[in-house]
Formats: sequence, C-alpha cells, structure tokens
Amino acid sequence: MKLLVCGGAGFIGSAFVRRQIQLHDDVEVVCLDKLTYAGNLDNLAPVAEDARYTFVEGDICDREVVEAAAAGVDAIVNFAAETHVDRSIAEPDAFIRTDVLGTHTLLEVVRERGIGRLVQVSTDEVYGSIDEGSFTEESQITPSSPYSASKAGGDLQVLAYHRTFGLPVMITRGSNTYGPYQYPEKLIPLFVTNALEGKKMPLYGDGMNVRDWLHVDDHCSGIEWVLGKGEPGEVYNVGGGNERTNREITSIILDELGLSEDSIEWVTDRPGHDRRYSLDTGKLRAQGWASEVDFEQGLRDTIRWYRDNETWWHKIKHGEGEFAQWQKRWYEDRA
Ligand code: NAD
Ligand code: DAU
Repeated sequence: MKLLVCGGAGFIGSAFVRRQIQLHDDVEVVCLDKLTYAGNLDNLAPVAEDARYTFVEGDICDREVVEAAAAGVDAIVNFAAETHVDRSIAEPDAFIRTDVLGTHTLLEVVRERGIGRLVQVSTDEVYGSIDEGSFTEESQITPSSPYSASKAGGDLQVLAYHRTFGLPVMITRGSNTYGPYQYPEKLIPLFVTNALEGKKMPLYGDGMNVRDWLHVDDHCSGIEWVLGKGEPGEVYNVGGGNERTNREITSIILDELGLSEDSIEWVTDRPGHDRRYSLDTGKLRAQGWASEVDFEQGLRDTIRWYRDNETWWHKIKHGEGEFAQWQKRWYEDRA
C-alpha cells in the first residue's frame, strides 16, 4: 500500500504518518506539505530516515505538484488545510484557497489518475453549534466561521464528485483533537505552554463553551478505519465522547501544573463563537471502531509531554516564525 498523505507535517497528519510507518511494515508514505507556519518537519523526525517515507514540499492547490506526488499511490489522505478558527476571522483568504480549491485539485487528480481511494479529513465544526443532543452524519451543515465554511465547501465538493463521477471518496468529521506536537496556538497547547512560561491563559467569554475532546491517536485510528473499510460517498463522525467546558479543561491544566486561577485572564469572546459541539459516533462504532484513550489520563499525559518537550515548542514560540506576531495581533486588544 502506497499512501499520499497531504498536510502530513501538521499536528494530526504527522501523527498519522508516524503511525503508518511505525505500525505497518507494508505501508509506504509520500508526505506532501506546503510547510506553512503550522507545518513542522520536527514532527516527522521520528520517521525521517525510514526508507518507506518520502517528503515532498508543495502546495495541494498546485496540480502539477500533486500529480507528481501522487504517481503510483493507491490512496490519498488529505489533512492539508488552514485550521485555526481565529486566523480565519482575521485573514480568511488562505482558508478558501487551501480548504476549497486545494480539495478540488486533489479530487481532479483522483479522477484523472483513477486513484483507488481518497479520505478527506474534515471537522465537526461544519455542523455548527448544537444546544442539546448530538449531530449525526445526516445533520444539516450550518458552519459559523470562515474556517468551518471553507471546510464545508471542501466536503460538498467531495460528495459531489462521488455522486457525479463515482469517485471512491470518503469524509471523516473529527472532533476537537489534543495530544503531542499540536501547534501552540490552539486552546490546550497554548494554555499549557503559557502556564509553563509563567504567562496568563486567555479564556474567551464566560469559559462555558463546550467541545468534545478526542485524543490524536484515536482520531488517527478512526481515519485509518475509514481508509481501509469505509464505503465510498459516506461521511463518518469521529468523536471522543468527552464533552467539557473550556473552564473544565483549564482547571485540569492548572491542577496538573500546580497553579491557581490567578493564571486565567478573561478576554473578549471570539466573534461567532460556537457554544457547543457534540457528535453522534454511532455509525463508526457500529462497525467496530472505538476510541481508547481515557480523557483525563490522556490530557494529563499531554500536559506532561509539553512540559518535557520544551525545545519543540520554544522554537515555535520564540524562533524565527510568526507566532509572536500573531499573538500580538489577536490578543493585544482582547484583555
Ligand atoms: P495543522 O494546522 O496542525 O496542520 C495543517 C498542515 O497542512 C500543516 O502541515 C500545513 O503546512 C499543511 N498545509 C496547509 N496548507 C497547505 C497547502 N495549501 N498545501 C499543502 N499543505 C498545506 O492542522 P491539524 O490540526 O493537524 O488538522 C489536520 C486536518 O484535520 C485539517 O484538515 C483539519 O481541518 C482537520 N481537523 C482538525 C481538528 C483539530 O482539532 N485539530 C479536528 C477535526 C478535524
Ligand atoms: O472541532 C474541531 C475543530 O477544533 C477543528 O476543526 C479545528 O481545526 C481546531 O482548531 C478546533 O477548533 P476550536 O475553535 O474548537 O479550537 P481552539 O483550540 O481554537 O478553541 C477551543 C475552545 O477554546 C473554543 O471554545 C475557543 C476557546 N479558546 C481558544 C483559544 C485559542 C479560548 O478560550 N482561548 C483561546 O486563546
């Protein structure tokens, strides 16, 4: 099996690439990644020397690049996307380009080259917010942010290419994912690394927004299941069943690091902030998939990973990248 993994230098994509190389002797991986601010070859260092792994730097919107990288592959898994909701509010253009046009480019290459399967890695955010109950795969999509709207645009193209051209494509819609190697702009790694540096944790609004947390290893096992056994044209929700308020997440981080609530800074809410996400994962569970990581254990292990791997995140937060610039731009007037 030869796989093209797009966006494999990011948080979840790199976990998926490491998993394929480390757990499956018969899998070869070509990783195609543009190395945007969120792409990081350090995430792939554990497999960099493996003969079954190849890295190609390139853009999924560039058809020639995708065609060359896809030569001889059996399947494509697409993680490549702009992924941070706050950045999509500040600067949406790149989201439309990568998440919509990039997905279109991949679909065209799958169509032209007759590639066996494509898994589009999408998000529960396409469904929008839900006060009670849970979203099934049949729920209407009502995205709230430029990020989730661009992901929804990608999903709709995938489904249309299945219906019109019969392409063997599937969609996973994952919930909020946590674990090692997550770029420290997202809630958990931002709060943990800020706390480790003696800085404040900027909690939006009343801190009562709810997310359903999924360990990155469980997210990857769900995607792997769909890649191997999913039905073309189908959507699969992948969730952890761990709904927590942001306040609850913050309390566990404070407890693990022995800090008090003085470390919280209450800041202006995110515009259009979805109140609650909740996924019904019955479809995938009925086929035998299950998440395995206990949430509180997984979160505490993750907090300890950031504590023990300061070199990894210090380079991002204080190196040559644009992390500091983004933090200043987004948070300066929110306090
Ligand atoms: P990430 O931001 O950590 O990584 C994204 C990767 O895509 C980076 O390596 C980046 O360099 C690459 N990339 C961006 N634009 C590209 C382009 N035009 N061409 C090639 N590569 C490009 O993202 P993540 O958190 O690992 O998310 C991966 C996927 O999973 C995304 O599609 C996201 O929508 C989805 N998802 C994420 C979560 C989550 O909680 N993180 C939950 C559900 C779904
Ligand atoms: O639900 C899946 C989605 O989860 C993915 O599709 C996205 O790519 C991923 O970024 C994530 O989106 P969220 O917006 O839910 O994640 P984020 O970590 O940015 O925020 C989680 C919650 O924490 C949300 O309610 C906003 C809040 N928050 C976030 C930040 C960055 C804060 O209170 N303060 C912050 O500084």
